[in-house]
Amino acid sequence: MRKKIVAGNWKMNTLPAEGVELAKGVVAGRGEVCSCVNFIVCPPFTHLAMVAEALKGSDVALGAQDCATEAKGAYTGEIAASMIAALGCKYVILGHSERRQYYGETSATLNKKMAQAYANGLIPIYCVGENLDEREAGKHFDVVKAQIEEVVYNLTEEQYKNLVIAYEPVWAIGTGKTASAEQAQEIHAYIRQVLAAKFGAAAQETAILYGGSCKPSNAAEIFAKEDVDGGLIGGTGLLVAFPAEQLLALAEDESLGRDDQVGVFVRLHEPDLFPGTARPDAHLRVVRASARDEYRIPRRPARQYFGEIRCFELEHEGSWGKGGNTGEGNPAGEGVSL
Ligand code: 13P
Repeated sequence: MRKKIVAGNWKMNTLPAEGVELAKGVVAGRGEVCSCVNFIVCPPFTHLAMVAEALKGSDVALGAQDCATEAKGAYTGEIAASMIAALGCKYVILGHSERRQYYGETSATLNKKMAQAYANGLIPIYCVGENLDEREAGKHFDVVKAQIEEVVYNLTEEQYKNLVIAYEPVWAIGTGKTASAEQAQEIHAYIRQVLAAKFGAAAQETAILYGGSCKPSNAAEIFAKEDVDGGLIGGTGLLVAFPAEQLLALAEDESLGRDDQVGVFVRLHEPDLFPGTARPDAHLRVVRASARDEYRIPRRPARQYFGEIRCFELEHEGSWGKGGNTGEGNPAGEGVSL
């Protein structure tokens, strides 16, 4: 039976104290999900120690988003695998497309990072995936095959047993576009075939996660596919995720007063998620949610982050926008309608 995994990649988001809150929220929310699903959070390096503390006593595992190619030494700014392992990390994301694209990571770099991860007892979450041009040219199979052959094929059989793969089509990351469940299944099955060509039956045990605009409204369908063993979640993972159904139930609960807080604490990590919310440290707290009102955000599809919820009333801490929603709290009692 393969592991089911839901991993949050926070990327370069949250300040340390917010990360701790988010981690606590994941621990709290995790209780509602079958213990057969493994939860992992991957905060920025700077938060690892504090988040490790917040995760103590829970079964939510800690991961880092990268590690250095070298063990130690004069590599200013780098973070060694031994350092993240010492802080309690069990996992490390390697080969994320953002690192390949913005920091020039190649298979040669990744082979070294993989070696460092294993030398320090970390389980790599190795990311593969094609960009839009490659998908449109029908080259996606070849691209992921090469990414696997050039790195994963260099592992020993023992190392291979401790590996998670994440398939993340670049065109779906942070774009709101998701691979369909069928597209995901097709390429996940292919990836498993490529793994099996080298590692045989062990490939049946490898968790292959899907990543790219995964959210409550599409996760269930994608995760239900045979070769999809969970997700590597970016934007949505930054929300202390209340299941959408639960929010709706709360919104419909007449016994809740105006001031009752649904209690979801949201940090806006994308400045343009809501128009005019350019202040990067803006915090919003969802105080009530309504399924009835219309969703009125004209630009970025905030809906993608909130599943089927169509309207939130938001309370904000501090002044966060120039779109008419300035001032403290929710004085008009109406909040901000999304
Ligand atoms: P999004 O979920 O924001 O599309 O990001 C996916 C990702 O890159 C996770 O590693």
